Order: sequence, then C-alpha cells, then structure tokens
Amino acid sequence: MKYLDFVDSTYKPKETDLVCTFYLEPEGISLNEAAGGVAAESSIGTWTELTTTQPYVTRLAAHVFSIEGNIAKIAYSIELFEPANMPNILSSVAGNVFGLKALKNLRLLDIQMPKDLVNSFKGPNYGIAGIRKLLKVPERPLVGTIIKPKLGLNTKDHAKVAYDAWSGGCDIVKDDENLSSQKFNPFEDRLSQTLESRDKAQEETGERKVYMVNITAETDTMLKRAQTVLDQGGEYVMVDILTCGWSALQTLRNQNYKLVIHAHRAGHAAFTKNPKHGISMRPIATVARIIGVDQLHVGTVVGKMSEAKAEVLENIDACKAELGGLKPVLPVASGGLHPRLVPALVETFGNDVVIQAGGGIHGHPDGTVAGAKAMRQAVDATLKGLSLEEYAKRHKELKTALELWKA
Ligand code: 3PG
Ligand code: 3PG
Ligand code: MG
Repeated sequence: MKYLDFVDSTYKPKETDLVCTFYLEPEGISLNEAAGGVAAESSIGTWTELTTTQPYVTRLAAHVFSIEGNIAKIAYSIELFEPANMPNILSSVAGNVFGLKALKNLRLLDIQMPKDLVNSFKGPNYGIAGIRKLLKVPERPLVGTIIKPKLGLNTKDHAKVAYDAWSGGCDIVKDDENLSSQKFNPFEDRLSQTLESRDKAQEETGERKVYMVNITAETDTMLKRAQTVLDQGGEYVMVDILTCGWSALQTLRNQNYKLVIHAHRAGHAAFTKNPKHGISMRPIATVARIIGVDQLHVGTVVGKMSEAKAEVLENIDACKAELGGLKPVLPVASGGLHPRLVPALVETFGNDVVIQAGGGIHGHPDGTVAGAKAMRQAVDATLKGLSLEEYAKRHKELKTALELWKA
C-alpha cells in the first residue's frame, strides 16, 4: 500500500476505532499523501510498498477519513493496540510520525479512545466528587499553595510555611515540582513534619487540610514513598507525570492506594507550546485521566505561563467530558496566580477547580498567613457575587494584596 492508499474519505469510523486529530503541514508532497503517511507509519505501512502484505494485514490499515484545511482525522482499529499499554498506544499514534521528513509540522490535537481501550486502564480513583468528599468542601473552589522558595528551605521552615498557609485558610499545601528528597529537605522528614503541621492546623481551624507531597522519582522509589505517605496518614501524593513517564504513573495508579493523585505537568510545554508541532495539552490530559490521575494542572489563562483561553477550556473539557464512564478529573489552576485573578479564574473554570498560588500567597507583604487569608477572601467575595474592591473594604488582607498586585 502506498501512502495515498491510506486516505479514504468514505470510511466511517467504527465505535471501536481510536480516532486522532492532527494538524499537519507537508514537505515536498501533497497534503493527502502526508496524511496517508501518518496513517501508514502508525499502522501497517512504511515508506515503500511491501511485497509481504496479506489481506488479513491490510484490513488493519488506519484510515484518513477526513481532511479539512490542514486538519486530518485518522481512525485506527482497536486491534492495532495492546490494552492497558499506554506506551504502546502512544508509540503508534504519537511516535515516529513526528519525525517524518515529509512533514514540516505535525501536531496531535486530540485522541478519542474507544470505550474498551479506555476501560483497560483504571482511570481516576477519586475524581472531583471523591476529592470534595475527602476535603469536606462540597461547592467552593479549593485553595492551595505551593511552598516557596521552591527549593532550598530546610525541613523545619518548610513545615512552618505549610502550617501558616493552612492556618490562613488554604485547604491544600503542595510541594513544588522539583522538590523530591534533596539533602536540605529529605522526603521522610519533610513528610512527617509537614503532616504534623497539617494535624495542628486542622485541629485549630476545624477545617480539613491536605498535604500533597511530591513523590516523583524512579518508579520503585516512588512506590515506596507512596507507601510511606499512607503509613504516616497522608491522603495525597503529587507526581510530575511527564518527567516520570506514563508507565511509572500507571504502576503507581495500579497499586490502588487510598491516595489522591495530583498531577503536575512540568515539561509539557516542550510538547505543547509550538502551535504547529508537537502534542496539545488536550490529549495529554486525556491520557493522564485514562491512566488515573485525580487532579491535573491545565493552565490558568491569566497567570505566569503562556496559553490561550480556548486551550485551557479544551483542557478542562478533557478533564470532565464523558469518557468511557471515567470519573472527572479536578482541574488545577496554578502558576503566577494571586487574589485579584480569582474572579477571572472562576469565570473560566466554574467552582470545580483548585486555585493554587505560591508567590501570590507567600509574597503577601504581611506574610503567608495573611496571603492565605487574602486568597480565601477573594474566593468568598467571588462566590458571593461581590467585587474584590468592595469586599476589601472590610477585609484588610485582601486590601493589601490588591494594592500590591494590580493586574
Ligand atoms: C506550581 O508548582 O504550581 C507553582 O510553583 C506555582 O507557583 P507560583 O504561584 O509562585 O507561580
Ligand atoms: C508552576 O510550577 O509554576 C506552574 O504551576 C506550572 O504551570 P502549569 O500549572 O501551567 O503547568
Ligand atoms: Mg511549581
């Protein structure tokens, strides 16, 4: 089969097919041929015609069934994939194809997986409802912080900053993505001391508090750390899902630990930032959900990282849309946030969101406790339908935050 033989506009995708949407720009060949090349390389074809092809093989050819502008849709038979094997699925549909010389640019925009393939993975254990139940916060956005400075603090100070954040009103305290078990703040000590802070804050405030400790490491180490979290009475773990890899994430999820999995996406922009090439966040979010994270960073629109609102809305949709009966993932907004941005965040996300701020809490002129209070006040004002300025007249922490962070 030649590349063009993989293009068939009359093909109707089956319910059991996996369907990918690509943006593509050909190099030296036609658009149709390039799209056919993608289908060929990720199913049964290659650059030349084969002499060994049999009918039982050709029926497994992927089909380019739609090309509109530079957007091509390709359907793959479910038989091309091994169930419960995400590396296999991605090596097919998001593997060699990105390097083909015949393509100047190729971007995977979306993956729709058939139900049977989706259900060969575990999916989220807790999801939005499970997290809300655990935290006993039925409706409002959750408020979180990332301990800052992100690296360098010793364990005692780390636990103290966490205590302050919880005391001021944060529901969640999390480690930063690049804190694991460095000498200045080793994992086990940090976990036990920060959980002590959690217990104290929980008792004093009467609110449920959780600590998302970063367990990211080589897989065996990561599992041991997860077990330690359980042993010490933690409920959450945080994982850098892209740097540790899909199969490590799956191994963690497959343990069925009673732990909420918070997914940080550090490194995603290497795939997602170039709008013409790479992998969009939407399929990354879909894959993370299918494997089974409970909450995921999806961007903010208004914070320190670059992304368009349409993209963030797509990511939120990937977290929540119907997908083989899987639980919805709780979207996390993080990166450059502060109280003034809360109304815009709630406008984009609705109430099902974790609003996380590091600098926007610990950078408050009166310190972390005041910073956390200001954040909770901004959330309260927004839910009451009051403007932040109005609310700040009676809430001094919010007032100070608004004076510092103008936009
Ligand atoms: C995170 O890991 O989400 C952050 O480090 C965000 O930090 P910032 O609020 O200071 O940008
Ligand atoms: C951080 O670590 O500063 C950010 O939260 C990363 O950005 P993201 O949430 O958009 O991935
Ligand atoms: Mg960070």
